[in-house]
Amino acid sequence: MSKLKFLYRKARLKDVRDIKRIESDCGLSPWSVKDYEQEIGKNPDFIICEFEEKIIGFILARLITHIEYPIKNNKSTFLNKEIIEAEILNISVMKEFRRNNIGLNLMKLILDKLESYDEYSIILDVRVSNNAAIKFYQIFNFEIISRRKDLYSNPVEDGYFMKLEKN
Ligand SMILES: CC(C)(COP(=O)(O)OP(=O)(O)OC[C@H]1O[C@@H](n2cnc3c(N)ncnc32)[C@H](O)[C@@H]1OP(=O)(O)O)[C@@H](O)C(=O)NCCC(=O)NCCS
Repeated sequence: MSKLKFLYRKARLKDVRDIKRIESDCGLSPWSVKDYEQEIGKNPDFIICEFEEKIIGFILARLITHIEYPIKNNKSTFLNKEIIEAEILNISVMKEFRRNNIGLNLMKLILDKLESYDEYSIILDVRVSNNAAIKFYQIFNFEIISRRKDLYSNPVEDGYFMKLEKN
């Protein structure tokens, strides 16, 4: 399957039905159609992967930039520093297309945006039983920071809070 041509682009309103289908097939915590539509309207970091005009995967991240203002005191003035924080809200690839680096490429599209910042952190939550996703995140050097009790419902389960930092 490695020779197949996958296209990556920003999510559009007409994609929501397919995104909901992938969400449901992959057992992700459901978002409402309205929530997805709002993200598409305001968030450039909602990216889909397409194969033969069919959506087969997506990543939904949120990036927030901060500028640390100069701190003046009697002795010194520190330079402005740009910091970026990101959260991976959802990532999913349809079962029959997994292990083709699609997840990797979706994640890289987000990581590439962070590279130029002096400091960044990316956070996410994952079900403690989701070994595939945990292994996937660990290849980017995400670390498990804490365990959040009963974070998930249907079924109720703890979540790992994971983080990747550059500083
Ligand atoms: C997690 C997920 C997005 C990974 O997508 P993917 O396209 O299959 O991942 P990739 O092909 O890019 O995998 C990259 C690497 O991650 C690791 N990896 C991915 N899936 C793995 C698995 N099932 N078991 C072990 N390692 C895995 C491997 O190191 C893999 O490299 P390799 O195939 O050369 O060994 C996919 O499994 C998925 O959609 N899962 C269901 C939805 C989900 O759980 N999302 C996360 C919610 S928090």
